[in-house]
Amino acid sequence: MQVDISTDEQLLHYIVSEDPAEMEALFQAARETRARQFGRKVYFRGLIEFTNYCKNNCYYCGIRRGNQNVARYRLTPEEILDCCHRGDTLGYKTFVLQGGEDPWFTDARMVEIISAIRQEFPDHAITLSMGERSRESYQALYDAGANRYLLRHETADAVHYSHLHPQEMSLSARMQCLYALKEIGYQVGAGFMVGSPFQTPETLLEDLRFLRRLRPQMVGIGPFLPQGDTPFGQEPAGSLELTLRMVALCRLLLPKALLPATTALGTLSPLGRERALQAGANVVMPNLSPLGVRAQYALYDNKICTGDEAAECRACMERRILSQGFVPDLSRGDYPGIAQ
Ligand code: SAM
Ligand code: FES
Repeated sequence: MQVDISTDEQLLHYIVSEDPAEMEALFQAARETRARQFGRKVYFRGLIEFTNYCKNNCYYCGIRRGNQNVARYRLTPEEILDCCHRGDTLGYKTFVLQGGEDPWFTDARMVEIISAIRQEFPDHAITLSMGERSRESYQALYDAGANRYLLRHETADAVHYSHLHPQEMSLSARMQCLYALKEIGYQVGAGFMVGSPFQTPETLLEDLRFLRRLRPQMVGIGPFLPQGDTPFGQEPAGSLELTLRMVALCRLLLPKALLPATTALGTLSPLGRERALQAGANVVMPNLSPLGVRAQYALYDNKICTGDEAAECRACMERRILSQGFVPDLSRGDYPGIAQ
């Protein structure tokens, strides 16, 4: 069965279709596209959750400012560097520094941290995921040696965005950040949750239309999962099938994109990440954070991988990749065609 997604009507059709044969054709097409670009390779990114302080109050997020039940932590520059060393020993060539929007990490401090990592690991990729900052700030961090930046757009529909975030946050500010990051020269990651409250097939279509315009190098897609202490704590989780479908559609729209099989998918379902690999994903992000802080980076309830040593996480990912007929690949895994 031919999969045609050249018009918005066709995209919307695949978002809402209830025909199992159509879905199988979609996943098959996504697998084939992924294989043409990447063969059987799955890339590794070592994830360092370096702070759970956040000045924002996103309604869905477990580490939002208003959540008084979070024991807050910040890794020291030395601890961050230790994580990088552990990651390097495990063979990872990409470090992802992710955290809440924590004003303690000023440009001066971040430049120092990034420069230190860059000096010790000249050939590794440094990915940042620390929210909205000024263009000047993004430029300074890039000049210090960061290569990639993950900033999910969360939803490309402005009204939906306003239902997920307090008034001081806006979709236009988020989009400005994404375009600035791209102009500076970062490999950029956008993305969204599937099943967030107030989401509709039309807002999901808008997400895909936005991705088609932005053409990011990476797209993080995971299910919304409730966290009990947030305003959305009693809302239902997103659906596994719809999340996989969005991964597959994203693969077809952006054939060269780096798409993670997200931890949230693994939390929603024991084989969620494996299913994502079969739907076109080609990246895994094993955790490198110190064991003592893992549970405190609780974006949602029941998050997996909070009790495993970094080496166990790596072995676990490797097994999962091999079980699906894919091949773990420890190279940097840049966007195809990008000069390092
Ligand atoms: N502060 C940075 C930012 O906002 O981009 C990075 C950290 S933020 C916690 C990373 C991502 O976690 C968000 O972009 C969001 O999509 C995801 N996330 C937050 N709460 C979630 C939830 N309850 N369920 C699923 N994903 C969630
Ligand atoms: Fe800031 Fe979630 S509200 S990271």
